[in-house]
Amino acid sequence: MSKRTKWDTKGDLDESKNLPIYQHKATLQQAVKDNSFLVVTGETGSGKTTQLPQYLHQAGFWSNGKIGITQPRRVAAITVAQRVSQEMHCSLGREVGYQVRFDDCTTQDTVVKYMTDGCLLREILADPVLSQYSVVILDEAHERIVYQNKWWDKASKGRCVPLKVVVMSATLETDKLSVFLGGCPVFTIPGRTFPVTSKFSCAIGPKDTESSVYVKEVVKVALDVHTSEMAGDILVFLTGQSEIEKACDMLYEKAESIDYRYDVQDHKVEGLLILPLYGSMPTDQQKQIFQPPPPGIRKCVVATNIAATSLTINGIKYIVDSGFVKQLNHNSRVGMDILEVVPISKSEALQRAGRAGRTSAGKCFRIYSPAFWEKCMPEYTVPEIQRTSLTAVILTLKCLGVHDVIRFPYLDRPEERFILEALKQLYQCDAIDRRGKVTRLGELMVEFPLPPGLTRALLQAASLGCEDLLLPVAAMLSVENIFIRPGHPEKQKEADKKHRQLGVQAGSCNDFTMLLSVFEKCKASDAPSAWCKDNYIHWRALKSAFSVETQLREILLRLQKRDFPMEKFDGNKSELFRRCLCTGYFTNVARRSVGKVFCTMDGHGSMVHIHPSSTLFDQEAQLDWVIFHDLLVTSRIYIRTVCPIRYDWVKDLLPKLHEVDVYELSSVAREEVTDEEVAKWVTKEAAKRQTEGSAEDVF
Ligand code: CDP
Ligand code: MG
Repeated sequence: MSKRTKWDTKGDLDESKNLPIYQHKATLQQAVKDNSFLVVTGETGSGKTTQLPQYLHQAGFWSNGKIGITQPRRVAAITVAQRVSQEMHCSLGREVGYQVRFDDCTTQDTVVKYMTDGCLLREILADPVLSQYSVVILDEAHERIVYQNKWWDKASKGRCVPLKVVVMSATLETDKLSVFLGGCPVFTIPGRTFPVTSKFSCAIGPKDTESSVYVKEVVKVALDVHTSEMAGDILVFLTGQSEIEKACDMLYEKAESIDYRYDVQDHKVEGLLILPLYGSMPTDQQKQIFQPPPPGIRKCVVATNIAATSLTINGIKYIVDSGFVKQLNHNSRVGMDILEVVPISKSEALQRAGRAGRTSAGKCFRIYSPAFWEKCMPEYTVPEIQRTSLTAVILTLKCLGVHDVIRFPYLDRPEERFILEALKQLYQCDAIDRRGKVTRLGELMVEFPLPPGLTRALLQAASLGCEDLLLPVAAMLSVENIFIRPGHPEKQKEADKKHRQLGVQAGSCNDFTMLLSVFEKCKASDAPSAWCKDNYIHWRALKSAFSVETQLREILLRLQKRDFPMEKFDGNKSELFRRCLCTGYFTNVARRSVGKVFCTMDGHGSMVHIHPSSTLFDQEAQLDWVIFHDLLVTSRIYIRTVCPIRYDWVKDLLPKLHEVDVYELSSVAREEVTDEEVAKWVTKEAAKRQTEGSAEDVF
């Protein structure tokens, strides 16, 4: 174990010379000079992300423009930029910076810029030839290299110096990547790893998918490793923030009672340092993860899947694998994207285990049984583009001028029904017209890093001059959960009571106004962090919501300077808020059928319940129509962040849920059609609706 407790920059620089990529520095620099497109692959941890941009910087590429590197996740972009700025001896935001959704840490001096895919796309929209860049590196390309094909075709034309595009990936799908880039060369960094022995256990079988069961088990196994294995750090894989926090709490508690004289095998080990790692963690805490622990202390990092490919932590010798991951999946039962906890794939399990063998032989403890491996785990992980809603991707493609989104050469082609679903949603929120062309509203929507429904509601509010109501709500829905629910039953009761009080104070009680009220109350408070503590609210989450709100406001102000559609509203002011929500959320509408059961009206007709965390829970009897922000699927389907509405407000919108025939929409989108053809189609649609009965009858 390392004896250093603080960053020893000199030592780290030397460390970077030990990375497998270092021997290939000159060859890589030359390869990028010689080729417009290049694929680089190498095992996770070989130094691709941190080193290649520096090599290109040293080779002088910056003199023609920035070196941009995209990351699929924001945490990766931030932490890697931090690391690289240290290696390059500059303060973060100067030569080396990052830009992620809602956080821009770059200056005029920045020449090495880490960013998320979304940020790059937004830059492409503003400047299709990417004139500020000399090189763009698409990192972890296997994750989501969807829509990038078209832009570099465009970007390479109309520039004095051609743009260099490097695509990096840890997987072996390099041939596919090379073909995608028109058959460019592939550079493979030879690996250097040590054997990892993996062991199954019988604790988790095919039926044990309850979070509480596997969290308890990983804690037990991690403690076993700590007490019975030789020195070396532990990496535990769990699925998300709340689980990770729970596991850390349990670990703290149990680690306290260890007697290091008797309980621990390796006498050099004298303590355990427990560190959580998940996406929405504050940046200063993330830094700590990469620092070597003090002498004699074993580090135990409890992480989400982010530690599997995007981030490499040095010194890890033991892996504790829960076998689960939280994934955004398109759920066809309810017709929406839902975050679900699912078993990992076998290839993912191998990748996780491999994290233990970077510097010496390692061990991987799988808490699941061989039967679980056989029965529950798929061979490979399906790329995100193939399993999630494509609305953002399709809208961006359309704004980039790709009209035929069906025949677009995707790297990982999504199923056609997902593309059709996205077209339908975009049409429903007025982002595209019947011909599949982007509308003025669509051009505005693509600027916001928010889901389309929420953006639509926000733009509606802005056009009616009441954005102050929607901006905080949009911000609150963009950060992690703000309500704290402690594990202790007594405290839980108290927290629930406080939250209920906040709800009551919010006047017209619904979950959206509740978010607004928490935001405003905290903002107005003299001691916001104390206010949060007192009300069982995550201060950290709220702080990010404040910052997100400011940034959304900036985007909106920028758009409002151009010709921004304005409307008038004559109705009751107090309705305004909910009616704006309806414009975006009418696709998520449900009506109470019997008792506490609601039925969604989007054609899926799912039976849903109001989630217990809602302010409207237990008041179902008084409700009729509601809209909701999202769904949670467990043994039941729950709707979360709920707001009662009146049928009147969605009446004119609801036909849109049914009138559009996606096949028509996409085939219209395929070719340039004449006005007459569209007119013919519209008449046909209208006739069809008549025979099916009016929307009023349907509802
Ligand atoms: O991209 P690839 O997986 O090939 O490797 P990398 O992310 O560039 O990691 C190279 C080395 O930098 C590893 O040893 C990491 O542990 C280290 N690193 C770090 O210490 N702190 C960071 N924030 C990021 C990487
Ligand atoms: Mg990497």
